Amino acid sequence: MKTPIRVAVTGAAGQIGYSLLFRIASGAMFGPDQPVILQLIEAPIEKALKALEGVAMELDDCAFPLLKGIVQTSDPAVGFKDANWCLLVGAKPRGPGMERADLLKDNGAIFIGQSKIIDAVAADDARIAVVGNPANTNCMIAASQAKRLPVERFTAMVRLDQNRAQTQLAKKAGVDLTAVKDIFIYGNHSPTMFPAFAHATINGAPATSVITDSAWLQGPFCETVGKRGAAIIAARGLSSAASAANALVDHVRSLVTPGAIHSVAVKSEGRYGFDANVWAGMPVRTTTPGSYEVIEGYAMDDFAKSKIAATNKELAEERAFVTSMIS
Ligand code: NAD
Ligand code: LMR
Repeated sequence: MKTPIRVAVTGAAGQIGYSLLFRIASGAMFGPDQPVILQLIEAPIEKALKALEGVAMELDDCAFPLLKGIVQTSDPAVGFKDANWCLLVGAKPRGPGMERADLLKDNGAIFIGQSKIIDAVAADDARIAVVGNPANTNCMIAASQAKRLPVERFTAMVRLDQNRAQTQLAKKAGVDLTAVKDIFIYGNHSPTMFPAFAHATINGAPATSVITDSAWLQGPFCETVGKRGAAIIAARGLSSAASAANALVDHVRSLVTPGAIHSVAVKSEGRYGFDANVWAGMPVRTTTPGSYEVIEGYAMDDFAKSKIAATNKELAEERAFVTSMIS
């Protein structure tokens, strides 16, 4: 039996938490032979902590063989202690009529405080995955506070956007979604994100040779993927939760699976024309469990370059907006 890994989850009693924790405990995130200890962190609010008690009771009641312990706390120093993975979900979601960037002031502050504590108490091999919106800039904020943990350990989730794009391409082409490969998300988890359809393949052929309607690819396809979160809020009255939890399972599972190729928001370091200090979605290849290399060299045509410039501009503006918070 492997040694259990410690997985800290913030916002554990929230919507995403309720879909996420049971998947982690069942083995979907770290594999069927990897035991886990869940370190569940909630805001110090009576109602949230009471709800967390209920979630922990339900986890117990599932009798998951891989679940070797549950910590419930509102103290991040307890919750992040020795954590190997820190899944930062806890943050305000947006409501109808809001953009994710509208959450920056309130949510940004959460990531400053939590990151300082993670840097102080988490395991030496700690990895941090940010889901709370606006995820890219919150991840940049969190990484800015770390002195011990290297910046490449801080990733933000654009996997939900990749999954959305894959399904949209499959539906348009009338194929099973497993036929669609290499669809990567560049830039911000916002309506400006760019799903780079020109590099995708469908049954091994370029997606653009199967879907020849370039007006659809450049217009409704990009728009549907970029605005899917808002469409779900309009329909449900609440932001996506089960699909977001599923995407986080995919994000981490791919990051611990050597050879996996997938979209992750990472520190750009100037790749693909992004400002060096923003966290932008791009394709990565997992090297060893938890580590990755960015896949460089995908050629961008003029349309792709203009989309990347627009999403980069937004990321740079978000960064400028929080500069006083992080310096
Ligand atoms: P929710 O309101 O249902 O749950 C959030 C939980 O976080 C609440 O239980 C709250 O008490 C808790 N929380 C707040 N501050 C906290 C803190 N400082 N420490 C620990 N817990 C804290 O929201 P949700 O639907 O679960 O969404 C969570 C976040 O994820 C939102 O910001 C949402 O916009 C974002 N989100 C991101 C993606 C993505 O693809 N990146 C997808 C969906 C949702
Ligand atoms: C999503 O993409 O569904 C989430 O980021 C929630 C939102 O605010 O859109």
